[in-house]
Amino acid sequence: MTTQDQSRRNFLKAAGQLTVLGGVISLGSCLGGCSSDSVSPIENTGVKVTLVLANEPTLATINGYIRRVFTGNNNNLPVIVVRTADKKFQTMSTYCQHEGGSVEAPSANKAVCNLHGAQYSIADGNFGKNIGGQSAPTLQLFTTEFNEATGIITITF
Ligand code: FES
Repeated sequence: MTTQDQSRRNFLKAAGQLTVLGGVISLGSCLGGCSSDSVSPIENTGVKVTLVLANEPTLATINGYIRRVFTGNNNNLPVIVVRTADKKFQTMSTYCQHEGGSVEAPSANKAVCNLHGAQYSIADGNFGKNIGGQSAPTLQLFTTEFNEATGIITITF
């Protein structure tokens, strides 16, 4: 025969186990499927990096590009710098915000993500925008300035 005190104790014990179980179930379902359909952009740091145009032969012509890691910037992921016009350069992250894939080197005026095939424009007017394949947010862009007098390209991360 249980006393009222024992019943109360058993009830509280069972309630505690349910709470813990609920937390585990909740965590488990999150690990399995809480991902939204896009990941966050990489935080801007304001760090400036420069390139000397004369040292970058692939940037000598319009649509020429480099795909490069600037250590310590863009989470150490590459960026793609493209000469989009005679005196204009633009820089995009290769971090695909669909699910974190890597955008490969461009060809035929677009760059493609290696995970699900999102296609991104490298054209001046819609640089970094999703133009085909998997639907995905526009790639993160970094302000890129060109000083014609010095031939210096400055990227602000
Ligand atoms: S991660 Fe899915 S298209 Fe890039």
